[in-house]
Parts: sequence; C-alpha cells; structure tokens
Amino acid sequence: MYRSHDCGALRMEHIGREVTLSGWVDTSRDLGGTTFIDLRDRYGITQLVFDMEANAELCEQARKLGREYVVQAIGVVRERYNKNPNRATGDIEIDVRSLQVLNASKTPPFTIEEDTDGGEDLRMKYRYLDLRRENVQSNIIFRHRLGLETRKYLSDHAFIEVETPVLIKSTPEGARDFVVPSRMNPGQFYALPQSPQTFKQLLMVSGFDRYFQIVKCFRDEDLRADRQPEFTQIDCEMSFVTQDEILATFEGLTKHLFKSIKGIDLPDFPRMNYDEAMSKYGSDKPDTRFDMTFVELNDLVKDKGFNVFDQAELVVGICAKGIADAYSNKDLKALTEWVQRPQIGAKGLVYAKLNTDGSIKSTVGKFYTDEDIRQWAELMNAEDGDILFILSGEAEKTRKQLGELRLELGSRLGLRKADDFKPLWVVDFPLLEWDEDTERFYAMHHPFTSPKKADISRMLDGDHETMKSLRADAYDLVINGVEIGGGSIRIHDRALQAKNFKLLGFTPEEAEEQFGFLMGAFEYGAPPHGGIAFGFDRLCAVLNGQNSIRDFIAFPKNNMGRDVMIDAPGRIDDVQLSELSLRLDIKDQ
Ligand code: AMO
Repeated sequence: MYRSHDCGALRMEHIGREVTLSGWVDTSRDLGGTTFIDLRDRYGITQLVFDMEANAELCEQARKLGREYVVQAIGVVRERYNKNPNRATGDIEIDVRSLQVLNASKTPPFTIEEDTDGGEDLRMKYRYLDLRRENVQSNIIFRHRLGLETRKYLSDHAFIEVETPVLIKSTPEGARDFVVPSRMNPGQFYALPQSPQTFKQLLMVSGFDRYFQIVKCFRDEDLRADRQPEFTQIDCEMSFVTQDEILATFEGLTKHLFKSIKGIDLPDFPRMNYDEAMSKYGSDKPDTRFDMTFVELNDLVKDKGFNVFDQAELVVGICAKGIADAYSNKDLKALTEWVQRPQIGAKGLVYAKLNTDGSIKSTVGKFYTDEDIRQWAELMNAEDGDILFILSGEAEKTRKQLGELRLELGSRLGLRKADDFKPLWVVDFPLLEWDEDTERFYAMHHPFTSPKKADISRMLDGDHETMKSLRADAYDLVINGVEIGGGSIRIHDRALQAKNFKLLGFTPEEAEEQFGFLMGAFEYGAPPHGGIAFGFDRLCAVLNGQNSIRDFIAFPKNNMGRDVMIDAPGRIDDVQLSELSLRLDIKDQ
C-alpha cells in the first residue's frame, strides 16, 4: 500500500495514528536538530518531521531529499507546536519513522509554487510541472466540476450526450479548417469539425429531440487570449422549440452553474437587441458591469465650423464620471495616443473636461462655446467633475473605436470587477452581413440560421437591399463583455436552405455537393429545431474573472498554434508522406 491517507486528509482527530503518506517534496527546512519536509499531493500539504536525536540516520536521509522527489513516509500523527492556520492540515505533523524514495527528481526548471519564477515559454515546455502548481491544478479541477454540473443539468432536462465524428468534410464557411489527408483515398482530405453543427441538426431529424455534447472543435484562426485552435464547446440542440424556450433552458443552465459552482444566485438575464448593443456599446458583446453608454451628438455639433464633426457620419461620446480632477493633460494625451494606435485606429480624440470649479477645458474650444459644451453635457447626463470623450467618423468604425475606449476606461477606472457577473442575451442579429471588399453576403451566425418568421417571405422574394435588413432568430449569451455562447433557430425547409446558400454565393451544384446530405435530410420530416453552443473554456475563465482561456486548458497551444512541450506541429517522414500520396514543395527555411 503506497498510502493510508492523502496529504490533505489528516487532522487533530488522527493524533496518535500511524499513517503512510506518499507525495512530492515541496520544500524542506533543515534546522540542525530537526528537518521539516512539506509533502505535497493534489489534496494538500502535510508537514513531515525528522528528529536528529531520535533517529540520526533517518534525518540524514531526509536532508538529502531534493525538491520534487517522490517519497513515501510512514510515521505517527502528532500535534504541531507551531500551528499553521492557513493550511487545512496545519494543526498536525508526522513524526516520521521510515522513509522511502520512490523516485528521484532533477531540480525543476522553475519553482513549483503559486508565484513561480518560470516564464510562460518555460512553463509551457514543462507543462506537466506547471500543472503541479496548486493554482494551475485547481483551474483544471474547476473545469472538471463545471463539466460534471453541466452534464447533470442537461441530463436532468432530457438531453442525451451523443458523440459526433471528428473526421468530417471541409466547409467553406466560418474559419479555416484543419485538414487531415486520407491514406485510403489518395488526394482526398477530411476536415476536423469547426463545430458539430450539421450533425446535431441531423440528430434532430433522427428524433433524438434533445442532444448535447461536451466536444472538441477545431478552427485555424488567429489566436488571442480567448481563442485556441482546439477548444471545447457545450454543444446543444433541441426540437419543437421556440427561441424563448431555448433561452430559458440555457439561462437555467447558466444559473445552475453559477449557483452550484460559485454559490451565486443570478437574477433573470436582460435581453438587448443587436442594434441597441451596437448603438449603445459599439459591440455585440457589451460589458454591462458599468454604464458609460454612448450618446449621439450629431444634432448638437454640426455647422459650428469644426470640419471634422461636420464631415462625420457619426459624432458620438461617452461620459467618464468624476475623473476630471484625477486626469491630467498628460493622461489625456496618453489616452489620445491610445485610441490612435493602429489596433484602434481613431484619427483623434475630442474631450471636454468639466472641472469641479465649474470651468470647462476642451480640445475644441475654438469652435464650441462653454454654452455649447454644457448642452452636450446635459444630453450625456454629465456633471462637473466628469470628462466627455467624443469620437467621430464613419458610423460603424467610430462605434467600434468608442467601444474599445469605453472598455479601456472601464478597466482603468476599476469598473470591470472580477467578482461582478453581468450576463445578458443579445438577440435579433442580422441574418446576413454584406462585405464591400468581396462584394458578397456572409452569414452573420452560420448558413443554417433561420430568418425570423416575419422575414421569410421578404427573404424569398425581396431584392438585394431587402436582404441587408433581414433579421435572424439568432442569439448570443454574453457575460462581462465575453461572448460565452451563440445559437439560433435553424432552417428546416429545403427550399429556404437552398435560397440561403444562393444568397451566400453558392451555385446549386456547390450547395448540393457540400450540403446535399443536410438538404436531403430536410426532405424526410425534419422537425423545427434550434440550439446553442457555449464556449466551455471561456465559461471557465469568465467564472473565475480571468481573460485567458489557456489557464483552463491542461495542454494549450501558444500564440503560434504550437504545443511547445511535444513540439507540434512537426514534419512527417517521407514514408508517411508517400503513403498519403503527398509531396512537399516547402524548402528548408
Ligand atoms: P459559435 O461559432 O458562435 O457557434 O461558437 C460557439 C462558442 O464557442 C466559443 N468559441 C471559441 N472558444 C475558444 N476558442 C475559439 N477559437 C472559439 N471559437 C468559438 C465561443 C462561442 O460563443 N455551431 C454554432 C453554435 C450553434 O449555432 O448552436 C457555433 O459553433 O464562446
């Protein structure tokens, strides 16, 4: 038997018991007569004590143990003289009688503790050691609990988990696919699924009624803190449901997860339509933990000689409360430079400082009197002590830029609190998005999303301009400015699906070739259906008030999509290449 207890189990009630523990040497302290070793495993840390007088040989043996050695200790539990109230086992220690090294360890390349000295690259290379750190391990355990509660809730609501294939067919929509060559079908490729979208719809045609899957998805897209090339979805689909029923079910899931995992009772989620989200927050995933909503100033600012505003399609501002005294000219200059960075791309930033002494200082004082600015302030609900920030230009771009500035100010002013959770549903997304560069429509959600019932006839008969105004039964769950999930009511009628593919630029032959299986299935009694998928990694991060999903993935990829631990992706040898009927033209760099 390697152990009678784990390293987090022993308490005062065990005093006097002989126990066997196994684990890793966390730290050791040699105080001359006594040696202390903290023994660590997943469950906690227990202090081992070796006394020179009692057993000099054993004590010598203990002194030689290095960090991260794997050892087994047999000893008697006794009360500690200096108790450690910060540790669950802090009242006791083990008076060790016998010690066995189960495995030695090289000195690890960084310290295995919360505030480690290891940089990101090193920790990723030795991820198995990084995962020994309590804070990293607890993220992975948190993820396990979230998955368990998700399965529990969905099973209790009649959802059945069904696995769908991972080797599927490439589709031209959305992100780029990862592809896998087929040995048995030379020159042909599978694609890894960006999501199980079409399969879950087929399961509805099969009559499963309610499906879910906690499932890996693969997208070859540029990576960010909240994006990984392989990530996990809580993917769901339901038959014979309206949008309202889907939202109620998944609001229920979210509330269940917050309650069971965090002990938080969330109030009912507000709903905001897409247009409102864009015009008030400049984003389809607004962070509603703080106000600072947009106020359009077009009617007040035109024809006063300020060319920039006169020529702008939109002049729009936000009011930052109570910062006039704290924000110096230098701060404001820095903020102006911040919005001018290429990532944001604003030409400039107009501001008006309503000083607490009643004076006004603005960057456009040449064109606007204090009286003018007081009018803006009134519309923006601003008072003395506030600063108005205003951007102008082409409407869509300007809203996005102001949205970024709003988030930045929210962060700088401490308004985006990690333990404050503000979920909402964003609904009524446009069905199609027109892209000027490629001169074609793209599906705002995906090509299987249904237009709103009221828009179906306009979609079938309308002209080009009409298509831009179609609304979809599509919705996103947003928490604290993060898109946690997205879904829609689906098209379940062959003719409507064919029309959608046509609008998206598919010829009938291309649509048939790529999605004939789905449209065919629609001809065999497809029920009305709809669904949603949550980003599971994102949900883990947001519930913990964090941005990076990497910390919640056991073996994540870096920004270049590489796993630096196993050194993937990598070359394959010529034999493998020829078996796959592939030939590489890439020269060595
Ligand atoms: P969508 O593309 O919106 O919808 O994806 C659903 C959710 O998955 C998460 N997500 C990601 N998480 C981490 N890394 C990524 N690269 C990544 N991409 C997406 C997001 C997102 O909200 N089939 C549809 C769902 C449906 O209609 O039912 C779909 O995949 O949190």
